[in-house]
Amino acid sequence: MDSLPSFPSTFLWGVSTASYQIEGAANEDGRGRSIWDTFSHAPGRTRDGDTGDVACDHYHRWPEDVALLGDLGVGAYRFSIAWPRIQPDGAGPANPKGLDFYDRLVDELVARGITPVPTLFHWDLPQTLEDAGGWLNRDTSYRFAEYAAVVADRLGDRVGRWITLNEPIVHMAQGYAFGTHAPGRELMFDALPVAHHQLLGHGLAVRALRAGGASEVMITNNCTPVLPASDSEADQTAAAIYDGFHNRLFLDPVLIGEYPPLVGPPDDAPYVHDGDREIIATPLDALGINYYNPTRVAAAPDGSPLPFEMLPIEGVPTTAFGWPVVPGGLRDLLVGLRDRYATALPPIYITESGCSTADEVTPEGRIHDTARIDYLDGHLRALHEAIGAGVDVRGYFVWSLLDNFEWAEGYHQRFGLVRVDYDTQLRTPKDSFSWLRAALRAQS
Ligand code: FCB
Repeated sequence: MDSLPSFPSTFLWGVSTASYQIEGAANEDGRGRSIWDTFSHAPGRTRDGDTGDVACDHYHRWPEDVALLGDLGVGAYRFSIAWPRIQPDGAGPANPKGLDFYDRLVDELVARGITPVPTLFHWDLPQTLEDAGGWLNRDTSYRFAEYAAVVADRLGDRVGRWITLNEPIVHMAQGYAFGTHAPGRELMFDALPVAHHQLLGHGLAVRALRAGGASEVMITNNCTPVLPASDSEADQTAAAIYDGFHNRLFLDPVLIGEYPPLVGPPDDAPYVHDGDREIIATPLDALGINYYNPTRVAAAPDGSPLPFEMLPIEGVPTTAFGWPVVPGGLRDLLVGLRDRYATALPPIYITESGCSTADEVTPEGRIHDTARIDYLDGHLRALHEAIGAGVDVRGYFVWSLLDNFEWAEGYHQRFGLVRVDYDTQLRTPKDSFSWLRAALRAQS
């Protein structure tokens, strides 16, 4: 395989994880219950009834995991903070042991020269807040800002870069509209206040983080290039609506201060208060983008509850999850965002990119995950093309360091550069780990 083209010398290379997917220790040191504890323990919600009770046991094994980061040679580590560890009921004074855990983690990262990039909310909402309405309740936005201030107060002397929310579209759609993720509500279009309250919480948190000394604050959105299935007007309209929900609903209000047409809250929505738009549009220092694949969209068949239908993308490889592998989609997405938002688009970090593979362990204990190497190689080349086309991209984070709890799929999808044996918690770097380490060395 040819070596990768050169990225800018200041480019930030990293890997990503999330608290509920790796930490385990669900009942330790005063951690409160999260919506994912409730959801994963409810019958039939996750594959094989898998839960994050133990996950990768990262809460106890974090020194070993940070050592893996050091061995890999990344400059940054994106992890998320479990709100229920900090405020077990989502409000009020901090749980000191929860803060201590992230404090030690940050210290160790900094000692190794690895930039910590914490995400404040990667879907594990305190259950107490959900019981009061979750993100349907405006109060959750204010609780989120308080939590942001508490964390910044403790970590802000060593952490400058922050991410407020992870993929608010996925949390709204899967968690509140379709019910396939926690909290498992099936509100369909009545889930829209969840978009507004997450965005309001984001804007308030940006202000709280800045007040706490943050130097670079971003939101991470899951974005996808939308491919209309045909030139027909019906398919084009369906594609525009899908693009509105998936991409624009959480970008337009943040970057240009307006909800997109067709999909935003109606003008008379009672949950949109005077002044909210200004808070949501508080200027950002950067934008996090998670990219996995493009989406092909057609007009919905008669009788569908949705105004669009997703179709498979033919003629491309798929991951173990069945997701289409289209590296050029990353370039097209980034160039498209630059064209759409122009000077309103801040510098971008790719905060997740990766694939699940059907790994086998050889008798020698090796994992030859060549599909992941091909995936990363292709996406990094496409990213380089986007940078060459003038898009200001400052970093790339692989999802994920470790195999982990993949939400409703439980432990069935393996996204890690490092294999985790869930019986023994043995970590085994895969071939992709060695490939990435060599690629990073060649960049420096
Ligand atoms: C993203 C999530 C992340 C992980 C990957 C595969 O949508 O942010 O936690 O599950 O997908």
